[in-house]
Amino acid sequence: MKVLVTGAGGQVGLDLLRILQARGDEVHASDVTPPSREHDVPWHRLDVTSEPEVSALFAALRPELVFHLAAILSARGEADPMRTYAVNQGGTVNVLEAARQHGTRQVLFTSTIAAFGPPLPPLVPDDIALHPTTMYGVTKVAGELLGDYYFRRYGLDFRAVRFPGLLSAVLPGGGTSDYAPLMYYEALRVGHYEAFCRPDATIPLMYMPDGLRALVELSQAPRERLTRCVYNVAAFSPTAQQIADEVTRAVPGADISFNPDPARQAILDSWPRALDDSLARRDWGWRPEYDLPRMTADLLPKLRALLPRA
Ligand SMILES: NC(=O)c1ccc[n+]([C@@H]2O[C@H](COP(=O)([O-])OP(=O)(O)OC[C@H]3O[C@@H](n4cnc5c(N)ncnc54)[C@H](O)[C@@H]3O)[C@@H](O)[C@H]2O)c1
Repeated sequence: MKVLVTGAGGQVGLDLLRILQARGDEVHASDVTPPSREHDVPWHRLDVTSEPEVSALFAALRPELVFHLAAILSARGEADPMRTYAVNQGGTVNVLEAARQHGTRQVLFTSTIAAFGPPLPPLVPDDIALHPTTMYGVTKVAGELLGDYYFRRYGLDFRAVRFPGLLSAVLPGGGTSDYAPLMYYEALRVGHYEAFCRPDATIPLMYMPDGLRALVELSQAPRERLTRCVYNVAAFSPTAQQIADEVTRAVPGADISFNPDPARQAILDSWPRALDDSLARRDWGWRPEYDLPRMTADLLPKLRALLPRA
């Protein structure tokens, strides 16, 4: 199958390329950044905010399946809301319209827990009033709604997951959940980390292999089994202190401290503490494999291999 990935040079994209190549797809990567040296796939320079560029690439490739990952994440997004609007919202409508015009069968979209905002119940279901507090969240809600519109109006097979904060063995891309991966990364690299949140900060998190499997399994699910376009997916919801305890258990001598940044803590406080993913479990059999200890056991050796401690 011919697959195009936008934002392929990011934290999710670089791992996703590997999975798509391994299953034998004809994979085309695209990003505003230069090609990754880790991957031997055709790499197309694409700025998703440029409608002519997006249309021309879709016309040339005619991808059957598109993973639309290109985005500016929450923390970077608050530093430049207008750019975030252009990339996340403008980029998404450009991709959907090009997909419609050039015969793409399916578009996978990566939404987020930032689509939600207060007031929220302790366990947040898929269908609840969406009151995002960041430009990132606003544009992701718009992306979900646009995709739903293209599905109903044109029959484009749009599917989306609302990802928790993702952890993997690469540096995170400027999200507000970055305190979690940075605890592991900095504990190994320099032996200490000062988190920008309170110890009791609690949001849904997920290990990248589960996140990638969610994307691929949703993409492969028979359409007739799906009752909606956008699904919550969940794994575990530790407090920041529980992550710190886990890191100090696994990296003896590491010192994790807390110095909350009011702006970033306010964003964390506006997000769900836990997601109800029962519809994803029912409709397409979603099940996470990793909890916090299993993730730690898998992640630390990978980080150690990347970062021999100075
Ligand atoms: N990482 C997480 O914790 C997380 C959580 C929820 C949702 N998501 C979503 O998953 C997707 C991938 O996230 P990620 O963690 O890989 O982010 P990332 O920041 O690591 O990667 C995003 C990529 O988009 C590219 N990009 C930025 N502007 C662009 C433009 N104008 N045109 C084309 N490409 C552009 C960047 O160069 C980057 O390579 C995003 O849509 C994000 O919203 C991520």
